[in-house]
Amino acid sequence: MTTTRWRRLLITGAAGRLGSHLRSDLRDLAQHVRVSDLRGLSPAADGEEVVQAELSDMAAVQAMLEGVDAVVHLGAVMPQAPWETVLQANIIGSFNVFEAARQAGVKRIVFASSHHAIGMYDRSQPLDSDAPPRPGNLYGLSKAFGENLARMYHDKHGIEVACLRIGSCFERPTDERMLSTWLSHADMVQLCRRCLVAPAIGYSVVYGVSANSRSWWSNDKVDFLGFAPQDSADAYAQDIAHAIGPASAPLSARAARLQGGRYTDLIP
Ligand SMILES: NC(=O)c1ccc[n+]([C@@H]2O[C@H](COP(=O)([O-])OP(=O)(O)OC[C@H]3O[C@@H](n4cnc5c(N)ncnc54)[C@H](O)[C@@H]3O)[C@@H](O)[C@H]2O)c1
Repeated sequence: MTTTRWRRLLITGAAGRLGSHLRSDLRDLAQHVRVSDLRGLSPAADGEEVVQAELSDMAAVQAMLEGVDAVVHLGAVMPQAPWETVLQANIIGSFNVFEAARQAGVKRIVFASSHHAIGMYDRSQPLDSDAPPRPGNLYGLSKAFGENLARMYHDKHGIEVACLRIGSCFERPTDERMLSTWLSHADMVQLCRRCLVAPAIGYSVVYGVSANSRSWWSNDKVDFLGFAPQDSADAYAQDIAHAIGPASAPLSARAARLQGGRYTDLIP
């Protein structure tokens, strides 16, 4: 997969954990890669453009989208953030990105949703791309808003969108729940690339998860993407079984039952 598919690809949240990987890993897919964040970014490499922008500032977002034809939208705050920050960054910020994308004539957006958009499903319930959101916290609610925002911009304006319900994208799984939800960095890169190079993606909901045998999620309905994860949390199961002992923080009964785990205990 080495085609220069896009004229200018924008990556928001590019100073973050995932964005700083994807910045270089997606570089060959566009003539120019524009990287953006609220935080300072390292200087532009060859073929890159660096734009510092606050997602809740529409004028700044409009300038960030100028000349862009594809977007990987990662910029967001995390589950523990207070409501006012979630509102500004994840809800108003995502609206600004989609609306400015429409104005700029963007063709395709890869939206970083989250499994916290489906956090209230029981672990015994397998889910596929048709599963409606059941957010487990305000952050998950903001991601559900993003999925609906994407749906509207696809239906009304024809922008193609892949909503990635990302599991737990870390170096390695570190607790029992992650044996189901883990997504390796390499598989995350592959997933983003597939979403960006596929001839057509329409509106797709895709689970960002490695080939974990304990996964609750199926990508059968989006198999046209050709996403074939290469890593699996299974390799870490033994280590995690040994690590879980009396010292581990106990889970509430609800957290232990739900896909969103301890994050479903966040109030409200
Ligand atoms: N890492 C995971 O396991 C995981 C799981 C589910 C979903 N996601 C989603 O994937 C995306 C990337 O996650 P990450 O782990 O790299 O997160 P991260 O916190 O490391 O990066 C997010 C970036 O967004 C930027 N940002 C936050 N608010 C902003 C604002 N108002 N304006 C501009 N930039 C702002 C931050 O500065 C940060 O660099 C996020 O949307 C996250 O919700 C990640």
